[in-house]
Amino acid sequence: MAMSRMGLLAAAGAVILTAGAALAWGMSTPHPLAEAALPAHVADAANGKILFNAAGCLSCHKPGPDLKGVDASLPAGGAPFKTPVGVFYPPNLTPDPETGIGTWTDIQFVNAVQHGISPEGENLIPAFPYTSYARMKTEDVLDIRAYLASLPPVSAPEKEAEVPAAWLVRRGVGLWKHLGLDTAQWTPDPTQSASWNRGSYLANGPGHCNECHTPRSSLMVADMSRQFAGGPHPGGEGKVPSLRGLIARGKYKDAADLASAFQNGEMMGYEDMSSGGMGEVQTNLSKLPDADVQALAEYIASLK
Ligand code: HEC
Ligand code: HEC
Repeated sequence: MAMSRMGLLAAAGAVILTAGAALAWGMSTPHPLAEAALPAHVADAANGKILFNAAGCLSCHKPGPDLKGVDASLPAGGAPFKTPVGVFYPPNLTPDPETGIGTWTDIQFVNAVQHGISPEGENLIPAFPYTSYARMKTEDVLDIRAYLASLPPVSAPEKEAEVPAAWLVRRGVGLWKHLGLDTAQWTPDPTQSASWNRGSYLANGPGHCNECHTPRSSLMVADMSRQFAGGPHPGGEGKVPSLRGLIARGKYKDAADLASAFQNGEMMGYEDMSSGGMGEVQTNLSKLPDADVQALAEYIASLK
């Protein structure tokens, strides 16, 4: 017997829904890179330490309050990190084989740091700024890995995130990656100096300055047409200032003054770098070699 009109419509609807769900499922499924995608590279832990500081890994992966007596410079993880979707406890990055990343392969590390995919094949939440780390040279990421491997292991089990429907959120992140995430690596501007380009790399890649200082589009991705124009704080509270025209607006005398602000912060009276996470960024920047701080200042001071 022929299907009724209503039945046909319902069947068509079901097909569309299923196709939509299949598409959403496919689009939200992570696609990790294979081992063969890694560049041939002899890792340099000393360079890795510089990038670890530029990238601010410790700010989020610092030892949590449960880890009494653990050296605060070790990224043993477990400190609460609040986001609009809930509280995360960024995990242990020390080489402990059981609770840290001691047994991870290089490709697992690169997939996590540059593509936001865990070794279990789940999407990681972009509060972990892999959106910016995607712009880094993969060699630099491998160097961070070598630096982490040189640290003493700390036993600190992962703490479960307090995020309602985390599974669904991770799938949603997969869709978002598909729609809006630009994972092109950083490229130099040949019309600019080597130091300006170094500063641009540090700001746009490891330094992840865009994550806070660049406003987001309706798709929640950095709106590069308004790059560094400031905007709402990604943590949900307060505002992040613009980095454009800092010299013209008289906030800093020149690039050297801005470099001094990155190096000394509030301690030397530079008060606009202390709150909303910027204090931790400044502390990390103060650990960089002088040439890198100057390069970063040269680039930021050039933003019109
Ligand atoms: C702004 C905070 C922040 C910064 C900076 C940060 N992370 Fe994370 N990281 C997180 C959060 C939050 C998670 C957990 C994400 C999740 O569960 O989806 C995470 C997860 C990870 C993971 C995945 C661990 C796992 O078990 O899957 C690795 C690896 C990692 N981070 C390494 C790094 C490295 C290396 C750096 C510096 C280059 C860094 N992170 C900087 C917040 C941060
Ligand atoms: C976690 C978010 C966050 C990140 C990441 C971040 N900033 Fe900031 N930044 C802020 C906030 C918030 C302020 C305002 C702080 C204050 O007024 O105490 C600020 C202030 C500043 C200022 C001072 C602006 C002024 O008007 O004097 C400069 C310069 C700056 N940031 C540069 C950078 C650079 C360079 C990077 C990347 C290496 C960076 N920031 C990364 C949040 C962030």
